[in-house]
Amino acid sequence: MPSFPRDFLWGASTAAHQVEGNNVNSNWWVKEHAAQTHVVEPSGDAMDSYHRYREDMKLLADAGLNSYRFSVEWARIEPERGFVSRAELDHYKRMIDTAREFGLEPVVTLMHFTVPRWMQDSGFWRAADAPDLFARYTEMVLPILDGVRYVCTINEPNIAAMLAGGEDAANLVAYGLPNPDLGVADALLESHRRSREVLSSVNGLKSGWTVATQAFHSTGEPGADEKLYEYGYPRDDWYLEQSAGNDFVGVQAYTRTFIGPEGPRPRASDAEKTLTGWEYFPAALELGVRSAWELSGNVPIMVTENGIATADDSRRVDYTDAALRGLQSAMADGVEVLGYQHWSALDNFEWASGFAPTFGLISVDRETFERTPKPSLAWLGEIARRGSLN
Ligand code: BGC
Repeated sequence: MPSFPRDFLWGASTAAHQVEGNNVNSNWWVKEHAAQTHVVEPSGDAMDSYHRYREDMKLLADAGLNSYRFSVEWARIEPERGFVSRAELDHYKRMIDTAREFGLEPVVTLMHFTVPRWMQDSGFWRAADAPDLFARYTEMVLPILDGVRYVCTINEPNIAAMLAGGEDAANLVAYGLPNPDLGVADALLESHRRSREVLSSVNGLKSGWTVATQAFHSTGEPGADEKLYEYGYPRDDWYLEQSAGNDFVGVQAYTRTFIGPEGPRPRASDAEKTLTGWEYFPAALELGVRSAWELSGNVPIMVTENGIATADDSRRVDYTDAALRGLQSAMADGVEVLGYQHWSALDNFEWASGFAPTFGLISVDRETFERTPKPSLAWLGEIARRGSLN
């Protein structure tokens, strides 16, 4: 089996709100506690990674990984409009330093779905000054980014625009994704550009956003190809095209959805189903990476998320092995890939679905917060050490 490049980043991903716990000043906390919420359970203490990040990182490094993707939380750094918390910036600086101490390249995301309450209340991404606010937030974070090589500005702007679309996105299943709010999509693009401008002042820092590539497939019936374009373009391809000229683009791939002439189809009843209800489809990664490379005009790719929600860890290994083989085949054809960050380091708070879908390489006891690495972590770490698949 050919090897991956020597400097390839092998890591795992998390997002602040999904693992830190008590992100009480964020719009998601408000949503979770609203009377009429569609969120099945609140995030609460989550995995308490706000306090236990050192332990999380040590487990990843001990297993053999060399990078860690995590996000810094806007709702903590700017808890009130215009007020910068130096203490919270110090907290995230400690995280960056700890990652380095363990030999993990930090891949830092600035915004992973959550915003401060005040930002939600003052118009969210629909506010005329949203891009100014995001650029200013980026400036606030700048002092702790010295030496950081990879920054993801906005996580999955395509999913964020769909969540803002107004329909009930109780579960982000690929089938029947809500209509994107195109005004929000434009605001996210402008915010991303403004943020990249700010980040360009840091020597050696590469920035990009991350896109949920969705491997939409036409059923081949008359009219299905047209529908595929109409449905898929504003949910996926547009964001990849807009990544042209960026330092890298993050690809996040999980499953596929068939599109018939009438629109998206539910998962076929005989297809293997994961705990999110999605089809088990590891080829999603290769398809996502190839389309990102092509549509962006050959921007280098970082796989910033890929994984499976399953209670059967051996299925996680099968899925990841097949996904990595697909990735390797794209790389053999010349696609430049900087690294692979598995989703997720830990079992975590899966947004509206709560804690039930387990994506982690590490399980967490929700009462004691005790971490238990799963066999898949050692398996991935071994590949990372060796730099090649079995
Ligand atoms: C998001 C993660 C999420 C994962 C699995 C991606 O859409 O970036 O926050 O947990 O998919 O559902």
